[in-house]
Amino acid sequence: MPKPVDLDHTADIARITINRPDSLNALTKETIEALSDALDRTQDARAVTITGAGDEAFIAGADIGYMQDLSTTEAYEFAKIGHDKVMRKIAGHPAPVIAAINGYAFGGGCEVALACDLRVASENATIGQPELDVGIIPSWGGIQRLARLVGDERARRMVFFSQRLSAKEALEVGLVGEVVAQEELDERVRTLAEDLADRPKIALQAAKEAFTRVHEAPLSAGLAYEQRLWSGLFGTHDQREGMAAFVEKRDPIFE
Ligand code: COA
Repeated sequence: MPKPVDLDHTADIARITINRPDSLNALTKETIEALSDALDRTQDARAVTITGAGDEAFIAGADIGYMQDLSTTEAYEFAKIGHDKVMRKIAGHPAPVIAAINGYAFGGGCEVALACDLRVASENATIGQPELDVGIIPSWGGIQRLARLVGDERARRMVFFSQRLSAKEALEVGLVGEVVAQEELDERVRTLAEDLADRPKIALQAAKEAFTRVHEAPLSAGLAYEQRLWSGLFGTHDQREGMAAFVEKRDPIFE
């Protein structure tokens, strides 16, 4: 069995790759644990990059097949491990973390990118928080961080209508910092990581920590609230129907 997450940690730069290309790198519990472990093992890096294996997806979201039948309590726990083991570890990582968005970044994938310090997208990337299509809402910061990054109105439109932005649109609204040709993404992200690794380490870490504080107090309250709201949706007709429809490859019939 291939590992769900690959870690290439040489010298000062750590490259993390979510490695489930057959499932478009969707995040299972096992993948979350492996990503968490990779983040733990990169604490001494001066720059970290995260990407998805294959040329189709960064991360196409949390695993819908797994979430389909979760109870409210189980959903709350799943939201919690995502926050504790991935999102907080990225945001709180001492080094800057760059998302190399090489294709679909939906739901939890968009949230991983949002938790990163910088986002570079390839021209074929598509980014969004389409959770309403399966009867739930974002839970790993996809409302709190998205609204802070792109503005409240734009974020509401993205979430309410499950808008999926092209890389160009994502650049226009500030959701990503730059867009490059697909074949140039690795090289561009490597160069950014090398440039960061050349910066004064302690000062760069302090700068990251200071940026984290910009939103910290209200953000944590919003995240906790979002997590409770999200798990409360499990067991509703629209959540069960939306996820069943996805798994069965048919259109959902919502209440
Ligand atoms: N969870 C679980 N499996 C997923 C997944 C997810 N979030 N996203 C994709 N997959 C799986 C599919 O089930 C499929 O598996 P299969 O080959 O065993 O049937 C495989 O990845 C390829 O996906 P598929 O839908 O066939 O590819 P596509 O090119 O037609 O569509 C997407 C790609 C990304 C548009 C589509 O997969 C999609 O909409 N995924 C869900 C995105 C989403 O809503 N994320 C938020 C979840 S809360």
